[in-house]
Amino acid sequence: MQKNMSLSALLQILFLCPFSTLTAAFNNEDPTLRTMEDFSGYPIHESHSFISNTLSSPLYADAQNLQNQIDELSRLSDTPAPSVTRVLYTEKDVLARRYIKNLMGLSGLSVREDAVGNIFGRWEGDEPELAAVATGSHTDAIPYSGKYDGVVGVLGAIEAINVLKRSGFKPKRSLEVILFTSEEPTRFGISCLGSRLLAGSEALAKALKTTFDGQNISFFDAARSAGYANDQDDLSSVFLKKGTYSAFVELHIEQGPILEDEGISIGIVTAIAAPASIKVEFEGNGGHAGAVLMPNRNDAGLAGAELALAVERHVLESGSIDSVGTVGILELHPGAINSIPSRSHLEIDTRDINEERRNIIIEKIHQSASAIAKKRQVKLTEFKIINQDPPALSEKSIIKAMEEASKELNLSHKFMISRAYHDSLFMARVSPMGMIFIPCYKGYSHKPEEFSSMDAMSNGVKVLALTLAKLSLE
Ligand code: GLV
Ligand code: MN
Ligand code: MN
Repeated sequence: MQKNMSLSALLQILFLCPFSTLTAAFNNEDPTLRTMEDFSGYPIHESHSFISNTLSSPLYADAQNLQNQIDELSRLSDTPAPSVTRVLYTEKDVLARRYIKNLMGLSGLSVREDAVGNIFGRWEGDEPELAAVATGSHTDAIPYSGKYDGVVGVLGAIEAINVLKRSGFKPKRSLEVILFTSEEPTRFGISCLGSRLLAGSEALAKALKTTFDGQNISFFDAARSAGYANDQDDLSSVFLKKGTYSAFVELHIEQGPILEDEGISIGIVTAIAAPASIKVEFEGNGGHAGAVLMPNRNDAGLAGAELALAVERHVLESGSIDSVGTVGILELHPGAINSIPSRSHLEIDTRDINEERRNIIIEKIHQSASAIAKKRQVKLTEFKIINQDPPALSEKSIIKAMEEASKELNLSHKFMISRAYHDSLFMARVSPMGMIFIPCYKGYSHKPEEFSSMDAMSNGVKVLALTLAKLSLE
């Protein structure tokens, strides 16, 4: 109907206007045409629109249903609402996975899982032999966090598939929704575990054979308890074959305040900052808190505290607002008020959009750790860089598709950097990558107050759906 109207409008213009007027008309300069457009209610540029050319009905995202699913998933938590805690291979994680697989099935996707529990829901395209277009995120949640981080990119991706199905779209390349295993490092200290393996990390596949959690449960025992890694300890089956995906796009809350502050609907991510994490351990003699006099102590706890302050100092010394460093874990052993700590354990997270600057910070932290150990007569028993990842750049063609999608949907957008890491950082190693951000309340994330509105999510889902549709036809 709409196409017929724009065709008849076009014919009228062709017969009535000289060529120069026609060109001006298409440049939106002709006031007569503008009036015709206002009068008829049908935009004359319809024929240029991907939506009207490709879809039989407008895009509609069911934000209320999405919100209900987010709320339901948030109840699968090991801490009370409004906080969410969902840790890899725990009962709640397994239940969340079941919930997602069920929704994938209801959306007509064919579901498969790999040996570590990355879950794939596939909508077969007209040319299934072509590399597929993928989207997805994670559903694990760090202790006492919120319900939107990652979840919006999984449930939102399934809703984006529903949006496209409702609109009558037929993909050429298959579309796949991925739930990545353990984006968060909570249980085994390794971030983006599933996507690192998909990207072919032999080093991680090997390291996992000797990796244990805080309760001394091995990675493979934990994986088996959740129904994965049953056949073997060899995880090479998880590695993606080159060219599996022609594009990967992740939808995520911004986890920062910029979009909300500036009143912008969509963030188009151009690059993801370079993250690193380090484990440090100091050991001293410990002893009785009353009996051992101050000159005779070598307090491992104070060495840890001093290193935490050194981390802050080295990050600030970089002189760039883009350098950040956090000591998120500082544990003391034996952890009794009347016992001098004989051991301290620190986990340090540092990031920057500039990899070289981030690496200098790591080097300075290492130097400080050695100097503090010497000064305080404690042993530096561990200084282990767990990961030291380079940044990732989004692919130009995907940035363009996300920008066009935002424009067609009349949504304000801006280009931005992701300071948080995401599975996209690793998918970029094996596929062209792009990310869509939506605003979240005050930029809150990794805490129970995390919130994104239904409007914001609906916009994000529609931009994702349109971007996937475009990429699927390329
Ligand atoms: C992901 O959750 C991150 O820490 O950036
Ligand atoms: Mn997170
Ligand atoms: Mn996340």
